[in-house]
Amino acid sequence: MNREILFPTPIYLKMVENPQKMNDYLFPLIKAWSKKDKSEKKTNVGGGWHSPTDMNKKKEYKPLTDELFTMQHAIFKDYGMEPKPGLGNMWANINYPGSYNLQHLHSNSQWSGVYYVKVPENSGRLFVEDPRPGANIMMPRRVKEIPKALRRIVAYPPREGQMIMFPAWLSHGVEMNESKEKGEKGWRISISFNFIQTERS
Ligand SMILES: [Fe+2]
Repeated sequence: MNREILFPTPIYLKMVENPQKMNDYLFPLIKAWSKKDKSEKKTNVGGGWHSPTDMNKKKEYKPLTDELFTMQHAIFKDYGMEPKPGLGNMWANINYPGSYNLQHLHSNSQWSGVYYVKVPENSGRLFVEDPRPGANIMMPRRVKEIPKALRRIVAYPPREGQMIMFPAWLSHGVEMNESKEKGEKGWRISISFNFIQTERS
């Protein structure tokens, strides 16, 4: 028989050109910022720090936004979108051990995503949930090992230097940071963002 896949939910993953260089540059900037500005109250729970959301307007983060735009342009091409992506907002997250992010989605955006600056072992995976309401009405009994595309929830272990982008309507969250490392060694640092569709970049 033939099988067609309709209404796909694309998840794009890509490493930046030079992860070590990028993260050695970003870490002190974000650490200093977290000492200066108080945390925003968003999806962060358990004492994690959420920066203000104007990070995309700060010139010092251009090395990262350049990488994000390159990937986003490729996504526009792959997904058949035009004319151009624009970076709507961006912010940094520090999840200290014991903190996590509640499940949520990002309204008024096209593509949301994350970049990983620092991810100690067991510091929490990003998880995404099947977005189709109908598919969540009943849970058929299934064999243990089913392909990733057929699961109801899929979790991605974070990788330093990796960008992940997904549709903004896709419900997602971040597991608790259960790192046993002490001090800043146990910090999980990520940068989140929303891309919109615009006439100009
Ligand atoms: Fe999010």
